[in-house]
Amino acid sequence: MSQHWNANLYDASHDFVAKFGEGIFSWLQPKVGEHILDLGCGTGDLTPKIQATGAKVLGVDSSAEMIATAKAKFPTIEFQQADARNLPFSNEFDAIFSNAVLHWVSEKEKAIASMYQSLKKGGRIVVEFGGKDNIQQIWTALKMALQKRGYAENANISFWYYPSIGEYATLLEQQGFRVVRAEHFDRPTPLKGENGLKDWLLMFCEIFFTGISAIEKEAILEEIERVLKPTHFVDGQWVADYKRIRVMAVK
Ligand code: BEZ
Repeated sequence: MSQHWNANLYDASHDFVAKFGEGIFSWLQPKVGEHILDLGCGTGDLTPKIQATGAKVLGVDSSAEMIATAKAKFPTIEFQQADARNLPFSNEFDAIFSNAVLHWVSEKEKAIASMYQSLKKGGRIVVEFGGKDNIQQIWTALKMALQKRGYAENANISFWYYPSIGEYATLLEQQGFRVVRAEHFDRPTPLKGENGLKDWLLMFCEIFFTGISAIEKEAILEEIERVLKPTHFVDGQWVADYKRIRVMAVK
């Protein structure tokens, strides 16, 4: 199952993705001259930060639209379209950095094998993405609202990959990585504006509304808002119940 990305909407309303990426950046510690892959760079907001350290960076993303926007925004940086499950690199990078991407890749073993193959020996991955129980309450409210209006099939779509540290570290070790650092933490994430939750659902959960009319969709969105308002609308702002896993591992 694939996700279509609207690069303009992503930049306008979801810039928090890049802002939160700064935490994981502190784990990367790029060195001058290192060759670093920014895996799933989106519209490229963190890529120049890596380049500014004196490292040489390549940003890749599976979305042609995101890559086109990244190239237009940062013409001096190298970007190319590539699939995390099948990266076209071999022993090339000192480090792979990835923020808020790997939960979209359900074929996680392929992504891990592909990262391993792309790294030089001794190279490292520094990755952060949705961990076990990420957006659990939003996901539950979405499923319940779909079921309630008779869309059981849509409610059963299995889409994201949110592992625990134990599960992900095991997969990395099976591939040959040595896991040197891992954290799993809450990251309550404010969503912009009064329609923040609806906008987030429209941006990221389109797949769950496949085949559902605009009128029904609106009713489902309102039901989700009604259910989550008491817990997820705080001081006039929607807050998503994100949980993150952050891992560093060495080839
Ligand atoms: C996340 O970054 O955790 C996420 C983003 C969109 C949909 C689901 C999860």
